[in-house]
Amino acid sequence: KINTDYFFDEAAFNTHDGGYVPLEVYDAPEVPLAIPPLLEPDQETATDAYYTVEAQAGETQILPGAKTKTWGYNASLLGKTIVYHVGKHNHVTLKNSLPELTTFHWHGLGVSGPYIDGGCHAPVYPGEESKIEFTLHQPAATTWLHAHPCPSTAEQVWHGLATMVIVKDEHEESLPLPRNYGVDDIPLVLQDRRFHENNQWDYREDYDPDGVQGPTALINGTVNPYFDVTTQKLRLRILDGANRREWRLHFSDNLEFTQIAGDSSLLPEPVKFTKLMLTCAERAEIIVDFKDYKEGDVVTLFSDDVPIVRFRIHDFTPDNTVVPDKLIDLPKEEADPDLPVRAILMSGMDEEVMLNGKKFNMQRIDATQPVGKAQYWDITNSNDMVGGMVHPFHVHGTEFLVISRNGHEPYANEHGYKDTVGVNPGETVRILVRFAQTGVYMYHCHIIEHEDGGMMAQIQSYDPAEKELKKYKLMDMD
Ligand code: C2O
Ligand code: CU
Repeated sequence: KINTDYFFDEAAFNTHDGGYVPLEVYDAPEVPLAIPPLLEPDQETATDAYYTVEAQAGETQILPGAKTKTWGYNASLLGKTIVYHVGKHNHVTLKNSLPELTTFHWHGLGVSGPYIDGGCHAPVYPGEESKIEFTLHQPAATTWLHAHPCPSTAEQVWHGLATMVIVKDEHEESLPLPRNYGVDDIPLVLQDRRFHENNQWDYREDYDPDGVQGPTALINGTVNPYFDVTTQKLRLRILDGANRREWRLHFSDNLEFTQIAGDSSLLPEPVKFTKLMLTCAERAEIIVDFKDYKEGDVVTLFSDDVPIVRFRIHDFTPDNTVVPDKLIDLPKEEADPDLPVRAILMSGMDEEVMLNGKKFNMQRIDATQPVGKAQYWDITNSNDMVGGMVHPFHVHGTEFLVISRNGHEPYANEHGYKDTVGVNPGETVRILVRFAQTGVYMYHCHIIEHEDGGMMAQIQSYDPAEKELKKYKLMDMD
């Protein structure tokens, strides 16, 4: 079966928002798609790996003429791609060379909160560094790193603080899938920006409390990119790294493609598409097969009707590998019968956004859940103002399962682990959440201006054997 629609409620697409900024083709020459280099470990042994991740300011030649002032991780814009291996013990030095406080949030890594996961309670001050250590026990996945200081996450991400983090494990490595980074395994970070005078970005000027947008697609930090295809199949690791924009992806010729992974794991079974929509912070790994094309052809990836990447086909050797129809066995999980269903309400637009009727407070623990126990969370989007909007709901420090949408089956590509799920207006999405580690975890809408605007809360995962809830040092808004 080939899925030929975007699944989500058409009436709630961001195109219907009064403040919607349509994508436009920027009048600049085509350039090769930037492929971020891999971050080399400072040191590596059979059991341990050491990395330094530096948040820095710089200038990037994005357009002809003036360079754009940008921020990045170990790079002037976005960052080097980080690869972690499951089971290895990682030691990461987080270095802040920016003129302001930042945090290093590992979106999608199963690390403990509120410090190691780099949410708002783990500031690194300008000129300082901090060190974290963790070992991952989670399936292979495409995750990411972004800044998360409250309430300036959106502005820092807009400056460029976002990069891809690939988690590898032996199971994934045993499958016949493309994994030659930069050749047939390609990161695609999808963002949008507006270029002002002198090719600069101006977050304040473009500010919109429902999410900042720009008309120019920025793919891995490049405008009008092309990629030279030298293999029959490509694996694209796509991340919606935009503050606000949904991406409605499809190829020229309605080329069919296969999704093999969602946010936090492979899909149990591959799913075929001609159209795929991603909401903010979601990831999809897809396999595109160019078997019906020949040297000199160009295959274009579009969002809505705007071309965002051109794949230039070169000569390739035939590749007869088949994507397996079983990609991963996920353990059957049931909700703990003693735990009630947790209700979460996302409401409002603009400055009115709230979670369960409240604005985020860094010092307030909004909910608790026993560590290791699975609980249903019902996430409702009450938003029926002017058609409403899709809110992408994200939880830190866990991989969840999507159980149902308004009591119906989740979408065909929602059967793997996820950490972000788009919730349509008037819809209740049931997810099954389990925290593997104690700690404090944030959950929020991933339209980043909604998160900064207070559509966020935090939960403490605790060990029931402890007599009293552990106290964590939590930052306050200042
Ligand atoms: Cu990707 Cu709390 O965020
Ligand atoms: Cu939202």
